[in-house]
Amino acid sequence: MRFPTEDGPVVSSVPAFRFDHLHKTFRSKDGGEVTALHDVGFAVRRGEFVTVVGPSGCGKSTLLRILAGLDHASRGHVELGGREHVGPSRDIGVVFQAPVLLPWRNILDNVLVPAQIQGRDRAAARERAMHYLQLVGLSGFETKYPSELSGGMQQRVGIARALVNDPVLLLMDEPFGALDAMTRETMNLELLKLRERTGATIMLVTHSIPEAVFLGDRVVVMSPRPGRVTQVIDVDLPARTLDVINTERFGAYVSGIRRNLNAAGGLDG
Ligand SMILES: Nc1ncnc2c1ncn2[C@@H]1O[C@H](COP(=O)(O)OP(=O)(O)OP(=O)(O)O)[C@@H](O)[C@H]1O
Ligand SMILES: [Mg+2]
Repeated sequence: MRFPTEDGPVVSSVPAFRFDHLHKTFRSKDGGEVTALHDVGFAVRRGEFVTVVGPSGCGKSTLLRILAGLDHASRGHVELGGREHVGPSRDIGVVFQAPVLLPWRNILDNVLVPAQIQGRDRAAARERAMHYLQLVGLSGFETKYPSELSGGMQQRVGIARALVNDPVLLLMDEPFGALDAMTRETMNLELLKLRERTGATIMLVTHSIPEAVFLGDRVVVMSPRPGRVTQVIDVDLPARTLDVINTERFGAYVSGIRRNLNAAGGLDG
């Protein structure tokens, strides 16, 4: 893991990962085929925060799962750190669309699951788990159980769990979709701080155009299924504070992406 300077996050010119002519077709139970991804290609540099926005069913989770090594492409390549990427890696942390916590384990033990699976030193992992729980604002909740936490808090446990192995690549699938607007704003700001502190490369999938613009150094816009990349936009904003949301510049990015999505077939949700 690299650490950023005081000037903010470090984005290197070295690619963290790259999709190259990626296709994914699923065979459905009735024997038919569903093309989820069609010729997807883009590269993301180390330390970059890229957001992916697109309508429901356009293949965002599929793309993220392939990058996480949890699924395979039908055609094309995925490179991770300059090498062909084939399976799950301890360098990758994943935050899923739902937090999927184990109800019989307390919060600390839930965060420790990935470290345990990889057989990492328990004392060191525990220290990291405590550190990340603090970072997501959950100090003092270590011995509570998932049912005792709000939805937003559970989602934050999912984020701490994704960070416990100090991933160099953090993949987030609509991590804030179930949260109310205020908690979502707070989590957006916390995520930007966390990014500065860890220097991780982040790919975050969202339905929300404003969220994609607020968080992303670049926004990848996908078309309705079969998912293709229709636009990759560099976001140049003076600061990532909530005030920026009310600026003309921010509004112009959002309406530009909305126009693109509407032209491609609309954004539901
Ligand atoms: N395991 C699977 N078997 C068959 N079809 C699948 C499978 N996983 C995804 N699909 C299909 O692939 C397409 C893309 O699904 P995916 O979950 O990637 O979409 P998404 O963009 O993440 O949608 P959402 O925004 O609703 O989460 C959908 O049509 C879906 O039905
Ligand atoms: Mg999805």
